[in-house]
Amino acid sequence: MPTTRSGTSSSRGSSSAQNEIVSMLKEDHKRAKKSFAEFEKLDVHEDSEECQALVQKTLAELEVHAALEEEIFYPAARGALDEEDLIDEAEVEHMTLHMLVEQLKDMAPEEEKFAATFKVLGEYATHHIEEEEKEMLPQIAKARLDWDNLLQQMTERREELMEALMPDVEPEAPSAKGKAKAKQKDEKGKGRTSQRETEEMEEETEELADSDWEHPSYIDPARDEE
Ligand SMILES: [Fe+2]
Ligand SMILES: [Fe+2]
Repeated sequence: MPTTRSGTSSSRGSSSAQNEIVSMLKEDHKRAKKSFAEFEKLDVHEDSEECQALVQKTLAELEVHAALEEEIFYPAARGALDEEDLIDEAEVEHMTLHMLVEQLKDMAPEEEKFAATFKVLGEYATHHIEEEEKEMLPQIAKARLDWDNLLQQMTERREELMEALMPDVEPEAPSAKGKAKAKQKDEKGKGRTSQRETEEMEEETEELADSDWEHPSYIDPARDEE
């Protein structure tokens, strides 16, 4: 059931729940863009196995992300946004993305249009991500939603979807900051963290910390106190 405007009800943690949701979505976006960039560096003939693994992993990740948005996030956003057109457009874009995902699932890297189809999926997905991050998310960040409930629904559904679509992958914590810290700690314990890995994790954490999503112009801390 979609989460709706909370109206007069609010809770102390809703601002951090909002940040966690936005981080979750933006992390997925970043991961997808990274996969499309990685694909560009591969040769579909020489690295066909690697290409196939990368493509199938990316498709599964996109499906998890799309389902979360379609089933939970978009319905909640629709009720809270002034411009419902943004959700209509996003849903139509998802239809095109799903079509390409389905085509790729049945394709082998040796097929003539395999690389082209994945690249076009990457171009469409990148365009869609930009619209979500530049238009939809800034608007919804100002909306009064039951963010705690929304976060709970999205976290639970994400686990179910990952189990179904990506059974070999360990479920990830929604917060990149927590995840990066936990990973750092874990790796430190083993004494195996390379300098580069540490730098990458720190970079990722800083990027999220610097993101517009935690900027006061989008999030009014006083709002939860009402
Ligand atoms: Fe989307
Ligand atoms: Fe998205």
